[in-house]
Amino acid sequence: MQATTYNYKVVRQFAIMTVVWGIVGMLVGVILSAQLIWPTLTEALGPLAPYLSYGRIRPLHTNAVIFAFGGSGLFAASLFIVQRTCQTRLISDGLAALVFWGWQLVILLAAISLPLGFTSAKEYAELEWPIDILIAVVWVAYAVLFFGTIIKRKTQHIYVANWFFGAYIVTIAVLHIVNSMEFPVTLTKSYSMYAGVHDAMVQWWYGHNAVGFFLTTAFLGMMYYFVPKQAGRPIFSYRLSIVHFWSLNFIYMWAGPHHLLYTALPDWAQSLGMIFSLMLIAPSWGGMMNGIMTLSGAWHKLRTDPILKFLITALSFYGMSTFEGPMMSVKTVNALSHYTEWTIGHVHSGALGWVAMITIGSMYYLIPRLFGREEMYSVKLINTHFWVATIGVVLYIAALWIAGVAQGLMWRATNADGTLTYSFVQSVEVMYPFYYIRLLGGLMFFGGMLLMAYNVWKTVAAGKAVNDARIPEAVAA
Ligand code: HEM
Ligand code: HEM
Repeated sequence: MQATTYNYKVVRQFAIMTVVWGIVGMLVGVILSAQLIWPTLTEALGPLAPYLSYGRIRPLHTNAVIFAFGGSGLFAASLFIVQRTCQTRLISDGLAALVFWGWQLVILLAAISLPLGFTSAKEYAELEWPIDILIAVVWVAYAVLFFGTIIKRKTQHIYVANWFFGAYIVTIAVLHIVNSMEFPVTLTKSYSMYAGVHDAMVQWWYGHNAVGFFLTTAFLGMMYYFVPKQAGRPIFSYRLSIVHFWSLNFIYMWAGPHHLLYTALPDWAQSLGMIFSLMLIAPSWGGMMNGIMTLSGAWHKLRTDPILKFLITALSFYGMSTFEGPMMSVKTVNALSHYTEWTIGHVHSGALGWVAMITIGSMYYLIPRLFGREEMYSVKLINTHFWVATIGVVLYIAALWIAGVAQGLMWRATNADGTLTYSFVQSVEVMYPFYYIRLLGGLMFFGGMLLMAYNVWKTVAAGKAVNDARIPEAVAA
């Protein structure tokens, strides 16, 4: 028998956890920013101090914001969108529950093991082998749930957002499994199967595509559904969205070596990474324009609709970071930017400006609907959140651009006799004002998340959790 309702329960669970993990992950980011100004900040905690040292909580931050906050947002969005656009219920409620609880378990294990110092020492893949196996199991369950629902769809067409989610699900599975190939020594320690430059190349093939597919392709799936929905307009060019899909995914795969410029990696591979990174501007900007132009005929809504403001500003930051990234891939530019704060600024223009903002906008759209409400408790508060967050990101990235360029120039400055003009410590001293500004920007962004939590709390309190929603008869989703 055909199901007559959608499974909203799993979407609701993930949507709420997106807000919770956003707050936790960003709080850790704020603590890190403060530690860079006051390195002994957490030492007063006595026996607890080692667990909160910079080296331990930095991976806690990256894992929490990318996989817990971003990941939960993506699970919520993809499992909502696949049902709505296929006009069918998820194939299995049990599998959906397994994905939700399995992913929360992964996050919990990360939150325990990283501060304890257990790490495989691969960036964005620090978790040790037993957790890696758990991730693979949960991910395969997710793939079965998602693609199974697509197969069972009642619509003939597969809406483009699902293509983006599909590519992300398949690619993350391959990346995670290949990069996590390791020899376990004990329950909490393993060594990579690869050695030397091969290890580095596999790691950055993974690392770059984690950015490409987790932080980009998947969030574009979110964009292709929520922007047209909130704007009340069809996507500007459906044809462009298909060209965007194939070109982006093909080109991203090759750009990883731009993380290894001027290393032992063969020169030809470095140049290949640089060329493909430059080519990435085209699909990235094509996709950005497709999203922004969807507002054609509805621009006036930007004045009054703060959710749309979040979504469109996210696209603008996406455009900025995908222009900046290719520039930083040019070897001569990278010679200046690598190892500096500029990279951290670039990361957060993508992470806060694009990833967090598109997620926040989408959750503001989604959450009232999951609690039987027309809109959030306070639209005014969403507007305040928007401005606090936007000013926060701008402070964060502008400070680190200046800091990064200053750092790079100071490191390379030489005197007429070939000696260095500045000592390393002098370059650290110059960073202080910028670190304060970054802390302020981070605090503002974090403060915005607290406003969101309050708004969500009030919306939830005034509503009623919707576990199952009726599937309309042959109506476009
Ligand atoms: C309140 C918001 C945030 C603050 C204050 C913050 C702060 C920081 C700090 C201080 C670092 C370490 C930088 C260094 O070692 O020099 C960092 C690293 C990082 N953060 Fe955030 N962060 C925030 C939000 C986010 C979000 C939402 C994401 C992703 C969606 C993110 C992704 C990352 C990544 C990937 C790195 C590692 C960068 C690298 O290794 O190059 N952050 N963050
Ligand atoms: C066309 C798109 C992009 C290109 C070509 C690109 C290129 C680059 C380059 C050249 C670096 C510096 C590598 C180094 O010197 O170590 C970098 C770092 C990084 N980018 Fe991008 N970027 C792009 C878009 C994005 C977006 C949209 C995001 C986030 C959502 C992002 C996240 C990151 C992260 C997290 C790092 C730091 C990696 C690390 O060292 O830990 N990038 N990117």
